[in-house]
Amino acid sequence: MSTPLTYWDYLRLDDLLGLQGGVGEEAADVSADELHFIIVHQVYELWFKLTLRELRLARDHLAADDVPEEHIPLVVHHLRRVNSILSLCVEQMRVVETLTPQDFLAFRDKLIPASGFQSFQMRELEIVMGLEDAERVRLGGHLPLEHIQKLATRSAGGHDAWGRIERARAEGSFLAALRTWLYRTPIRGSQPGQAGDDAVVAGFLDDYLRAGDAASEASMGRLAAALESQRAEVSARVAASREANRAFLAAEDVDDGERAHHRRVRAAALFIESYRHLPLLSWPRLLVDQVLEMEQQMVLFRHRHARMVERVIGRRVGTGGSSGVDYLDATGKYRVFKELWSIRTMLLAREALPELSEQGYGFARGGA
Ligand code: HEM
Repeated sequence: MSTPLTYWDYLRLDDLLGLQGGVGEEAADVSADELHFIIVHQVYELWFKLTLRELRLARDHLAADDVPEEHIPLVVHHLRRVNSILSLCVEQMRVVETLTPQDFLAFRDKLIPASGFQSFQMRELEIVMGLEDAERVRLGGHLPLEHIQKLATRSAGGHDAWGRIERARAEGSFLAALRTWLYRTPIRGSQPGQAGDDAVVAGFLDDYLRAGDAASEASMGRLAAALESQRAEVSARVAASREANRAFLAAEDVDDGERAHHRRVRAAALFIESYRHLPLLSWPRLLVDQVLEMEQQMVLFRHRHARMVERVIGRRVGTGGSSGVDYLDATGKYRVFKELWSIRTMLLAREALPELSEQGYGFARGGA
């Protein structure tokens, strides 16, 4: 008879609990502070591992040629798990903050030049989400990713780190899958490829911008009455914001060849967010909410990490050689799902929305 499975065998606890000895010394010699530092980082990396798995599953459902309606709850399910983990990652910085600056200084020098810069899983996460190299903060003209590229070939354990980055780059991103899905969203009952779809989309956007202008006219009137002395300044700001909305919905920032595609993607995001109260849009809107939540948690993680770093090491240079907190704060500006954020700026109150005809309720989502 075989021996019954135990909790410790199933979880391979002997292996797992034998991995906190640091490098180059006996496990027993690692101080309590350093043990804490190692465990916290390992726990983060385990959460990153699961986050990557879930994000890739969500992406694969969404990237299919045909996304049946019943697959949207699956995407939402995976993203919910991602978001629960990421919010825990934000909160977990509290544990790191129990390390006083001097506790950390006691072992910090031996980490140089190792750094969170080399967390290849964090880089994979950014890449699979859809962060482009062009959007990354550069260090003296170099991408922080080069830390992995240069060191991976030399380090003892991390030789595949760069391979993982390259493989992540070769996969389609979650952002690309989301855009493909948004592109196929019926708008006022019309689907891409259907006769007259371009005109339906253009009509929706025109109506929306007109309703937006009327709404901003009304609030501008109230604002100007309250801030008479700043009337010219406020009206210039409102006019600039309207123009920015129009240019964004027309996808003027996108190359000619891709403009029509992006215009439809943006119109779809606007349609889902605006008519989110319609029962037929309830799953699409939950999906969009989860994507926004995911990006918000990433931004919060970056801010929370930077505040923790400021508390523990002040504004000194990082072990990876960056400017430290200034660099980390600059990364807080990353936004992958730009269209979803931009649309928030132009949403209208429900009673100000252009009305939907009966056909606008049709929400059959077919294949491409
Ligand atoms: C005492 C604790 C910590 C300090 C003082 C610290 C400090 C820093 C600094 C200064 C950087 C900028 C790169 C450099 O020059 O080294 C950095 C990057 C990074 N750290 Fe930490 N860190 C700490 C803990 C953590 C923890 C617990 C995590 C969790 C995974 C983490 C993840 C990262 C990541 C992913 C980066 C790269 C950020 C980017 O390039 O966008 N760090 N850290």
